[in-house]
Amino acid sequence: MHVPFVDLAAQYNAHREEFDGALAAVIARTAFVGGEFVRNFERQYADAYGVQHCVSCANGTDAIYIVLRMLGIGAGDEVITTAISWISTSETISQAGARPVFVDVDEHGLIDVEQIEARITPRTRAIIPVHLYGQAVNMDRVGELCRRHRLRLIEDCAQAHFAEWNGRRVGTFGDAATFSFYPGKNLGAWGDAGAIVTNDADLARRCRMYANHGALVKHQHEVEGVNSRLDGLQASLLSAKLPHVAAWTASRRKVAAAYDQKLAGVGDLCLPRIRAGARHVYHLYVVQTAHRDELKSHLTDRGIETAIHYPTALPLLPAYGYLGAEPKDFPRAATTQGRILSLPIYPEITSDMIEYVADSVRTFFAHA
Ligand SMILES: Cc1ncc(COP(=O)(O)O)c(C=O)c1O
Repeated sequence: MHVPFVDLAAQYNAHREEFDGALAAVIARTAFVGGEFVRNFERQYADAYGVQHCVSCANGTDAIYIVLRMLGIGAGDEVITTAISWISTSETISQAGARPVFVDVDEHGLIDVEQIEARITPRTRAIIPVHLYGQAVNMDRVGELCRRHRLRLIEDCAQAHFAEWNGRRVGTFGDAATFSFYPGKNLGAWGDAGAIVTNDADLARRCRMYANHGALVKHQHEVEGVNSRLDGLQASLLSAKLPHVAAWTASRRKVAAAYDQKLAGVGDLCLPRIRAGARHVYHLYVVQTAHRDELKSHLTDRGIETAIHYPTALPLLPAYGYLGAEPKDFPRAATTQGRILSLPIYPEITSDMIEYVADSVRTFFAHA
């Protein structure tokens, strides 16, 4: 049996007419960049999310960069973030002119909130927690630190659409939150797409201006900005998909529960643990084992695609060699990067596939 890591075709086939219709409407109106479809999606996403403003942009990386710039973060500033994430979270800090300061991860692979305070200096301006894999960071603790040290708080929600911390959506705790709608995300476009959400009207205005060459009104450039706009085709598709996200998330959670049940106590496998207070939306289902590479190749041999998120912790990448970090500085991240394996999870995965994946994992450990 072949089990793909994600299956975007399955989602398309289930909603083909609806999604095709969404694109056809944009083509009929030739509303390709900006315009009504983009505005509609922004309103719908803000309403669905329970925030006042949604500013769309070209991708989730730009979303972080734009927020950093519009919060005035730049040269001489430090921004604290997690040692395990996709590089967008930290490269945008550098691109804004600031310095990324990494904090080791906890047992969930998320920023270790107990270690943040020790990394705060007089130069620290902001914290970017990442709700990695769809699991929520302890936002009570991060929020309290930000208030006490007068730091900006930007939540990177690229992997955590509609995840919750203590009954409240992640992305609503800070100055702003950023989203990616990359195709494989829990809400995914058919190309690059991203958004910023915030309850700060002035910040929203500035982000919208900066993302459009520094102009809210054509030819009236308040500053030099960037060209980071959502296009009408992506916006219309995202509007068509948005009403399905709750059901898709419920399906992801059911898949995770099935894996949890079928893989409990197998070998040395550590299953994703849910932090009390968090509602995990399972963008990824990440297990850990000392035999990661052998398990990965065993599953590949059986036609099961897996992935590693991510093989090298950010501070240990060549890109951050200038920081001089060593594995001993980030002991948990350095160990975790060699143990993590993401199993296939998506709403359309069948129960036969889940059984096959679980059975293949069990077979591996029975012979390990
Ligand atoms: C945690 C995290 N932050 C930011 C991004 C950047 O999003 P995009 O690929 O839309 O630029 C991603 C995308 O994978 C991500 O996983």
